[in-house]
Amino acid sequence: MPQFNENDLTAAVVKSFESTPNPRAKFLLQELVKSLHDYVRRTDLTFEEWEYAIEFLTRTGQKCTPIRQEFILLSDVLGVSMLVDAVNHREREGATQTTVLGPFYVGEHKQMPHGSDISPHNVTGEKMFVQSRATDLAGKPLAGVPVDVWHADDDGLYDSQKPSYATHGPTARARFVTDGDGRFFFRTILPCSYPIPTDGPVGEMIVQTRRHPMRPAHVHFLVNAKGYEPLITHVFIDGDKYIDSDVVFGVKDELIAKVEERSDPKMPDGKEASAPWHLMTYEFRLKPGGGMAPKPMAARESEPA
Ligand code: BEZ
Ligand code: FE
Repeated sequence: MPQFNENDLTAAVVKSFESTPNPRAKFLLQELVKSLHDYVRRTDLTFEEWEYAIEFLTRTGQKCTPIRQEFILLSDVLGVSMLVDAVNHREREGATQTTVLGPFYVGEHKQMPHGSDISPHNVTGEKMFVQSRATDLAGKPLAGVPVDVWHADDDGLYDSQKPSYATHGPTARARFVTDGDGRFFFRTILPCSYPIPTDGPVGEMIVQTRRHPMRPAHVHFLVNAKGYEPLITHVFIDGDKYIDSDVVFGVKDELIAKVEERSDPKMPDGKEASAPWHLMTYEFRLKPGGGMAPKPMAARESEPA
């Protein structure tokens, strides 16, 4: 009958995975066991604390729905999402920086014509015109590239967080396809900084640990060109109060754009502007390579198992 002390137990559990057929799965599981066991030893974890952790993770799973991903949120606030991003994007000389996908890449991204207003029902937000372009590292335009965009409303909520999502469908969420010069442009409203959801276990942890729950204002972009690494990123709005203390550690200097306040009577596509408006200009440079872009959660749900 084998008996283990607190040190040789780790070796025994590591060994139990020895016959795992997939070598990467074997490596990941064995390293996970080592790290977890180290944590327990270093912290002298009590039964109550371990029970609390299990209950916390259980509640995190129970909070997930097809349009709510509490586990992504947990990964984000613990900095794990940005760390996975960092170790996978070590060499990005000349390419646009990446950041977290976040838990709100959930709904359908319907293709819209350039210039469309993606927040047509919003009556209170300040208008913003976004003009952008996708190129390779040498500045050559990338034509026909789908670009998914999404951002929070001026009440700080994503469409999928509101009851109206079921009836109205997506808003402040769309897909544009770059033209022959790699360009795309659209109208929307100026997003504001917003709190991550605080009505679940992750938010509870943020509140109880006296962290603030805010993300600085940004627009999400997913640029997915064939023959290039999918680019998952945000453009942050310069001057935001939370730019230096993003709750998910996602800000990179290069992703901060100066959004200009404008009062010209026409927007860049020649159409009338009815009130002062904002102009966001940003170019994305893609790195050659491959890889699968993530799918919105709703699309994943409808796939066969
Ligand atoms: C977001 O930007 O949508 C987001 C990212 C991480 C956590 C919560 C929200
Ligand atoms: Fe966001």
